[in-house]
Amino acid sequence: MNGDSKHIIRVENLHKAFGTNNVLEGVDIQIEEGKVTTIIGKSGIGKSVLLKNIIGIMKPDKGKIFFKGEDVTALPKSKLLELRKNMGYLFQDAALFDFMTVEENISFPIIEQLKIKSRSEIKKRVAKLLDLVELPGIEKRMPSELSGGMRKRVGLARAIAVEPQVVLFDEPTTGLDPILAENINELIMMVNKKLSMTCLVISHDIASTFRRTDKVAFLHDGTIGFFGNPDEAVASKHPVLKKFISNSFRPLED
Ligand SMILES: Nc1ncnc2c1ncn2[C@@H]1O[C@H](COP(=O)(O)OP(=O)(O)OP(=O)(O)O)[C@@H](O)[C@H]1O
Ligand SMILES: [Mg+2]
Repeated sequence: MNGDSKHIIRVENLHKAFGTNNVLEGVDIQIEEGKVTTIIGKSGIGKSVLLKNIIGIMKPDKGKIFFKGEDVTALPKSKLLELRKNMGYLFQDAALFDFMTVEENISFPIIEQLKIKSRSEIKKRVAKLLDLVELPGIEKRMPSELSGGMRKRVGLARAIAVEPQVVLFDEPTTGLDPILAENINELIMMVNKKLSMTCLVISHDIASTFRRTDKVAFLHDGTIGFFGNPDEAVASKHPVLKKFISNSFRPLED
């Protein structure tokens, strides 16, 4: 036992700069297996950059990222690809391939990563995933024929297609109306509870996020300024976090 078995991801002293723009300046965060952790923070503070480093599509300047005890920053590319099978991700723009049908989009990671070749097996998996995200039967549609909320749900189906241990969601509800946003949040909870996947979510949607997430991490000035459960976040004396939360709960003015 290394005493850390409950943390599926561990980030240590992560640094990332773009020229003179020091974005991450010593991020430490531990993600508990089987739980939902939500990262919040101002726009442009580095949330997506942190997620991209965790997935391994961006390389840190300094620091370590452990996945199940293995330092992913030290892995050769072939091993990194292997490891990525354990991580699903839904990017901020939910980018589907526009030139592919819904079925082809969801099949893509099943074929590329799981190396499944049987057409009937692929079709079965796609149908099951579309059922899960409550969009049965839309296999033949093109992304351009879908609403924004539907595209997010197809993106979610694709993210969980390889049955990863961890799913990373970058602002899955941004740009959706409150009802659709709630629907996506419920799907994330389904992914966590029913499919037992660890979820790491970036969200601006503080009010609804706080009702569900197990842990909150507040990214500020290049480090994790707060980490704890939602009640502790609301009670936190961190001046910027306090302001951040109170602004988010203020009713909208018209
Ligand atoms: N590939 C890149 N090259 C140069 N600068 C980048 C790159 N990616 C991100 N940045 C910069 O890093 C900073 C953090 O960006 P990031 O996208 O992580 O912000 P964010 O917290 O996700 O914001 P938002 O809430 O608006 O999505 C920004 O200043 C951004 O311009
Ligand atoms: Mg972002």
